[in-house]
Amino acid sequence: MELFKAVESRRSVKHFDVTAEMPAEDFTRLVQATMLSPTSYNIQHWRFLRITDISLRSQLKDAAWGQQQVEGASELIILCADINAWSDRPERYWADAPKEARDVLVPMLTEFYKGKEQLQRDEAIRSCGLAAQTMMLAAKSMGYDTGALVGFDPERVAELINLPEGYLIGMMIVIGKAAKVANGRGGQLPIDEVLFENTF
Ligand SMILES: Cc1cc2nc3c(=O)[nH]c(=O)nc-3n(C[C@H](O)[C@H](O)[C@H](O)COP(=O)(O)O)c2cc1C
Repeated sequence: MELFKAVESRRSVKHFDVTAEMPAEDFTRLVQATMLSPTSYNIQHWRFLRITDISLRSQLKDAAWGQQQVEGASELIILCADINAWSDRPERYWADAPKEARDVLVPMLTEFYKGKEQLQRDEAIRSCGLAAQTMMLAAKSMGYDTGALVGFDPERVAELINLPEGYLIGMMIVIGKAAKVANGRGGQLPIDEVLFENTF
């Protein structure tokens, strides 16, 4: 599907065909495409937790106030991020760059994030947001429907998935085939309410 069409037709789907399965090659292709999303200093904070255990799915649904798409979609991914990725062997993020570039960028990124806890967390969340949108649009272009979710008890989900120290949960993403089309759009703001020029 052409990108603009995917952007315009992507909707948050709540009811999925529970019999539909996503072939392994589609799943891998989707994750690999998502991993091409941009991140500050190429830090790639994202950690994709694919939930394949049926009973865990059911417990996660309960933790998500019973939202059926958590259990009914073909795939459930909990999009997490390593807040400390900036300091975890950062030379990896520039492994394929020329040495001269790596030698500049690695100390630069370390200095940029060192001691700035709010920024470290903000950056991890930003990376999740970009990954999420890539994943949803790429999935749409591959013929799948998706939904993002933050309607869950984060502490319970963290406990269920054994979230490592220093990680955060960005959101859940469900992927599959819609069983029911999404309702009409809630209402987009007019462009002049959100688009500004030069200063506010
Ligand atoms: C980060 C995020 C979290 C969301 N959480 C939920 C959720 O828990 N349950 C739900 O039904 N929809 C959830 N949504 C879907 C939004 O309600 C939806 O994106 C919005 O109404 C716009 O509709 P559209 O995505 O169909 O264009 C979430 C969306 C985003 C981006």
